[in-house]
Amino acid sequence: MQENQIKKDIIYVGAMDAERRIFDELIPLPDGTTYNSYIIKGTEKTVLIDSVDPVKKDVLFDNLDKAGVRQIDYIVAQHGEQDHSGSIPFLLEAYPMAKVVTNIKCKAELMDLLLIDESKFIVIEDGQEISVGKKTLRFVFTPWVHWPETLVTYIPEDKILFSCDFFGSHLAKDKLYPDNPQDIYIPAKRYFAEIMSPFRNIIRKNLEKIDSLDIEIIAPSHGPLHKGKDFIFGCYRDWASEVVKNEVLITYVSMHGSTEKMAGYFVDALKKRKITVKEFNLADADIGEIAMALIDTATAVIGSPTVLAGTHPKAIFAAFLVKALRPKTKFLSVIGSYGWGGKMVEQLADMLESVGAEIIEPVLVKGFPKETDLKMLDILADKILQKHKELGIA
Ligand code: FEO
Repeated sequence: MQENQIKKDIIYVGAMDAERRIFDELIPLPDGTTYNSYIIKGTEKTVLIDSVDPVKKDVLFDNLDKAGVRQIDYIVAQHGEQDHSGSIPFLLEAYPMAKVVTNIKCKAELMDLLLIDESKFIVIEDGQEISVGKKTLRFVFTPWVHWPETLVTYIPEDKILFSCDFFGSHLAKDKLYPDNPQDIYIPAKRYFAEIMSPFRNIIRKNLEKIDSLDIEIIAPSHGPLHKGKDFIFGCYRDWASEVVKNEVLITYVSMHGSTEKMAGYFVDALKKRKITVKEFNLADADIGEIAMALIDTATAVIGSPTVLAGTHPKAIFAAFLVKALRPKTKFLSVIGSYGWGGKMVEQLADMLESVGAEIIEPVLVKGFPKETDLKMLDILADKILQKHKELGIA
């Protein structure tokens, strides 16, 4: 980040991690990430909002030094996850007078995860304010964005909201703000899809809870800051809604071409019916892109061959992903092939039951698909179109 001054006496001291390519050993980071951390210099107290992933703690300390920070009174921990909290133990060593200001749930997490002593905490309540001299910290609890303890911090004098993961994006840029808000759209949607989407009901409530705040700047703990709230609030309202689009997500894996032939034919059949298709070969698919597609899609279809009498492990992973992300998807189906028998369809149907979507009759083919099999895919496409029409989206 080049221009570190956000407002008078509010300074960016976080770290870029442009080379990082995976998070939680699971989530791809095509654009790297940042761990945003902010210093607030009140006339009476100096406050740090969140820390950084410990792999970048030296950058944080260097930035604190450059910002002329000789003392920290409060470290506000908005979230227990270690990419924001992990450097707190090092900060407590360097600034032994500092107290960790957080809620009771985050305190318990930090004691468990980072072995921080109980004496180091100041526990705050939802809506509580702390004056630091000419600036007020107002804490608003926003649970499940994306852990139970998550909270945000608002400074009314500066009209700035520190939102931690809420409204964040994995996007490493050396500027505080994007050139155009649209530049953040895909990274923010990907981020929402990967970690926020299972909690969309409570996210809608959290959006309403903070909607009355007069906000000039949103400062998340990943990615660029937002000027104003309208753009990113609008995005979140859309993504967290229950509205689906006339789209089909098809994720498939094929070993010898049978399921791939089915998937290709099925994609064409859907497109002929004017349905948007997002297609992913699970051999090399980016799960972030699958998660993003699940934000919008009315129907998701998994394609798999039969392996050892069951589903291909990559298709199992896709089903697990769908189940874990609890999408608003209304319809599910399965296509695939088998050599001599097996329980592939039953296995996937069992896994997907908890999604709560209607299962449309799968298409299962023996060996390489023949003309009669391909006609079954046309029938499946017709059924999906009919279901979309009944929803009023086709
Ligand atoms: Fe960026 Fe949930 O940590």
